[in-house]
Amino acid sequence: METSIKLNNEVFDIEKIRSDFPILHQLVHKKPLCYLDNAASTQKPKVVIDSISDFYSTTNSNIHRGVHFLSEKATQNYENTRTTVKDFLNAKSEKEIIFTSGTTSSINLIANTYGRKNVNKGDEIIVTNMEHHSNIVPWQILCEEKNANLRVLPINNNGELILEKFNELITERTKLISVVHVSNSLGTINPIKKIIEIAHKNNIPVLVDAAQSIQHLEVDVQKLDCDFLAFSGHKIYGPTGVGVLYGKENLLEEMPPFMGGGDMISKVTFEETTFNDLPFKFEAGTGNIAGVIGLAAAIDYVKSIGLENINKHEAKLLNSATEKLSEIKGLKIIGTAKEKTSVLSFVVGNIHPHDIGTFLDFEGIAIRTGHHCTQPVMDYYKIPATSRASFAFYNTFDEVDHLTSALKKTIEVLS
Ligand code: ALA
Repeated sequence: METSIKLNNEVFDIEKIRSDFPILHQLVHKKPLCYLDNAASTQKPKVVIDSISDFYSTTNSNIHRGVHFLSEKATQNYENTRTTVKDFLNAKSEKEIIFTSGTTSSINLIANTYGRKNVNKGDEIIVTNMEHHSNIVPWQILCEEKNANLRVLPINNNGELILEKFNELITERTKLISVVHVSNSLGTINPIKKIIEIAHKNNIPVLVDAAQSIQHLEVDVQKLDCDFLAFSGHKIYGPTGVGVLYGKENLLEEMPPFMGGGDMISKVTFEETTFNDLPFKFEAGTGNIAGVIGLAAAIDYVKSIGLENINKHEAKLLNSATEKLSEIKGLKIIGTAKEKTSVLSFVVGNIHPHDIGTFLDFEGIAIRTGHHCTQPVMDYYKIPATSRASFAFYNTFDEVDHLTSALKKTIEVLS
């Protein structure tokens, strides 16, 4: 295995990095696990696993409401994570960081609060043809309720947005643009800053779905000037069931709460309830305390390696895989944008992706097959599904080679 790669004079020690991830060192069907399903969920370094275990072993208690030692310690750890996330996103204030259960729940929160308040009959919301279902369905539900319209920015054959069409879509009825930063099924990195600039020239706020970018690219909410941004913990080497909604403070202030319950209130009587300040107004009930604390460990871990180093190594893996898989007869890559993260979707003749995935599994290789919760992308390409290999910084060039040769063998058997 190639264990150290020179990146800008820094040594990216793959062997050391892989030793941080206990799950990677196992046999699957008697073959070494080759985990290439990182766009679905990333694996967890030991520091994240330990932080969750430590929380339950030493600190477990409910937050914000207790006066005892454990509650105060748990509250401090939970709130420290808010600062970690604030710094990571370069938000202006902790008030702009809301903990949710993930990207889906963050987007649904915006649809149910900002959306319900501001979208009325005949209004329009713009999404793109490459959105995950979680950035389509909440808007469809809202549009149905309000008699509003969902408009869709089209893509081209490479899987890139056709930005020129934006001007045709934007009208005085457009109330929100909700757009994915990086496509989970195509790997395309969208020109999000440009999109936000166009939107703001027309006084339209933008929600960025950063579920597939937060683990690969620098995401600076002030530089982007996005109005809302959502991501999930489990895509950035953190726990499942925890996520973040970033929102500009003035917008969050004006929004009504989403869920009602404990912690989100200031005073409750049967006649009237007043709500808590930001960010607690949007965090009803006991949240995923251990998950939130694990998220801080994940972000610290990613920062210790450096997003720039991560990005460089993943780009090399993607280039190598793209080159090698392109040479396979009958294989077609779906998603050939100029700017991509390490996602490689492909189809091979009439072979069903599920069959490819099953055969590769017997070689110890985990990829994802299906529509990847982006059925409109599949419809655009007139295919039911793709096979998708997605790489993380702990993947190796040997694994790219293993994927290539196992795929050749699989195609030979299935053709
Ligand atoms: N949205 C996740 C994926 O792309 C589950 O696989």
